[in-house]
Formats: sequence, structure tokens, C-alpha cells
Amino acid sequence: MSHSDEIISVRNVYKVFGPQPEVALSMVKAGASKAEVFEKTGQVIGVFDANFAVMRGEIFVIMGLSGSGKSTMVRLFNRLIEPSSGSIFLNGKEITGLGDKALLQVRRKDMGMVFQSFALMPHMTVLDNAGFGLQISGVAEKERNRRAIEALRQVGLGGQEHCFPHQLSGGMQQRVGLARALANDPAILLMDEAFSALDPLIRSEMQGELIKLQKEQNRTIIFISHDIEEAVRIGHRIAIMEGGKVVQIGTPRDLLCNPANDYVRTFFNGFDASRILKAGDIAQVDAHSNYEPGRQTPLNAETPIKEIFNIIAQATAPVPVVDEVGTYKGSISQGRLLSYLGGH
Ligand SMILES: Nc1ncnc2c1ncn2[C@@H]1O[C@H](COP(=O)(O)OP(=O)(O)OP(=O)(O)O)[C@@H](O)[C@H]1O
Ligand SMILES: [Mg+2]
Repeated sequence: MSHSDEIISVRNVYKVFGPQPEVALSMVKAGASKAEVFEKTGQVIGVFDANFAVMRGEIFVIMGLSGSGKSTMVRLFNRLIEPSSGSIFLNGKEITGLGDKALLQVRRKDMGMVFQSFALMPHMTVLDNAGFGLQISGVAEKERNRRAIEALRQVGLGGQEHCFPHQLSGGMQQRVGLARALANDPAILLMDEAFSALDPLIRSEMQGELIKLQKEQNRTIIFISHDIEEAVRIGHRIAIMEGGKVVQIGTPRDLLCNPANDYVRTFFNGFDASRILKAGDIAQVDAHSNYEPGRQTPLNAETPIKEIFNIIAQATAPVPVVDEVGTYKGSISQGRLLSYLGGH
């Protein structure tokens, strides 16, 4: 991918909460941990040396335990929070350092934010709530209503324009929150635990809705979650944060197959790996694996492992795996398969 595919680039970004960020920064740069900095200075490391890019049109999920810096990271993107040092680029242009007016433009045109609490105005209709962001931006009523109606239609709330929030279920209220962000037609949607307050069925429905919307509109979505099932379902790539650091970024399969540390591995405890893995992901090259073309029928590396259960179960020896041009990638034994199914 070229640089022009990067919609957001983050370079050497640090955020310290406290009155003397330089002191905390020099400590962390000398190797001190987040806990040590807090103990000695009372200051909190929010984000620690972040370096990565978000690609245009992807759903980029940020995961991590409570306090790991997810919300801070997203607020650095729209500059609700200023970095202590480092730079953030939007479409190749540095946004850290923008003046108030230019920043307002970025917030209006480029980024929309959806929060966990629906943040609707109780005395305003669904239509006015959906158009609220536009109203703040000074868009005239007729145009505002036209765009709000279209956004409400996109989230499946056509016809509900004149209801009030209290007449809607939680899931519908969150759709209004989503419509409010969409009405601005932002290039990037920032969603901070946007579905976490919803009950499981509605949540799953909203995830499906979001995937569909993203396919239709090719918007870039940055989505914070603490739920691995949700992250895997909607994320093209997932960034894992730990104590302010981005410890790993990859596709769900990358993270599952090659976790950078135990912290990353722990997120996948109890996760049904067979949902996403393919034969090539678990094929193993070792002293016991061999491949004699013609003697054994190989599996294709791209075959989902759900489809190979029976073959492996009935095999008397490890089954070879080859890629699309027939190159041997390793073999899968029964033990190997079981080790992946047991939550790894
Ligand atoms: N305004 C603030 N002042 C001081 N410390 C803060 C502030 N905002 C966040 N922090 C601290 O920065 C760290 C990262 O917080 P952040 O809210 O980004 O975490 P999070 O990953 O979003 O957590 P959660 O899953 O609970 O939402 C935490 O240690 C938090 O206490
Ligand atoms: Mg948060």
C-alpha cells in the first residue's frame, strides 16, 4: 500500500496527563514504566510512543483493557486531546498544530464521533437530534432536515423522524446517534464503545448494520471495543493497546496466530479459532511432517479449518497442506488441530 492510502498517520505520539509532561516523558524515554512514572510524579501516561497508520476505507478496531489508552488515542485524532509530543497527519497534512478555525473544519468535515452513551437531547425529536451536528455547523434548516432524513434512512429509522428519544429502544437511540454522525458525511467515523451499552441481540444487529454501511459507503471507521468477538467480526485490522502502548496491529488471524505477547494471547482465551483460521495458518513444518506428491492428497492452504475436521480426524498421519501453486506449507496432525480448537 502506498502512503496515499493512509488516511491517518500517527508518528511518535505521546500523551501525558499532568502539569509537567516533559518530566514524565524524559523518564519514560529513559525506560521507566507507566506505573513508575505515576508513583514518582503523579502523572499518567495516556499514550506512549504510538506509530501507525489507519488506511482509507478500513474498519480499524482498537482493543485493550480499561485504562490502556483507547479513548485517549481516538481523542488525539480529532484533537479533543492535544498530544504532549509527536505528530498526527490527516490525508498527509499535519493536524497537530492546526489553528482553531482549521481544526473546526476538520471536526466538521472529516470526522464524526459516536459515543457509548447515546447523548441524545431528550426534548428534541429524532429528526432534530440527527440534524444537531449540522445545526451547530450552521447548516440551514431545509438542507439540515434533508440530510438528517437521509442519514436516518441509512440506519433503518426512516419514518421515525417525529418520535422523541424516550419512545425508542436503546438500539434505536444508538441508531440516532449514528445517524447524527453520518448526517455530516464525515470521511472518518470514530466510535468509542458505541455498541457496548446495547444488549447482545441488538448489538449484533448493529454490528451487521455497520459492516453493511461501511461496504456501501467505503467510509473509514475507527472503532473502540473491549470485546474480541466484536473486534474480529467487524475489524479488518485490530490494534491492541496495553498501558498506553500499541503492542500489536494486525488482522484477526495475524493476532490469533502470532500474538506479540501473553497480553494479546489472553484476549483470545475461549475464542473459537475455527471461525477464522485456514489450513495454511496452522500447518506445521517439523521432523514428522513430510509430503510426497502423489502418495497423499494435500489440503489447500486456503481451506477454512472448519471444513477439515473430518479429514484430519480420519487421517492416520499428519495431512500435508499446499498453497495454490502446490508448494508444501507444512502438515496438520490431530494434536495440532486440537491445540487450536482448545482456545489455543
Ligand atoms: N483527563 C485525564 N486526566 C488524567 N488522566 C487521564 C485523563 N483521561 C484519561 N486518563 C488516564 O489515561 C489512561 C488512559 O485512559 P483512557 O480513557 O484512554 O483508557 P481506555 O482504554 O479508553 O479505558 P476504558 O476501557 O475504561 O474506556 C488511564 O490511566 C486514565 O486514568
Ligand atoms: Mg475509553
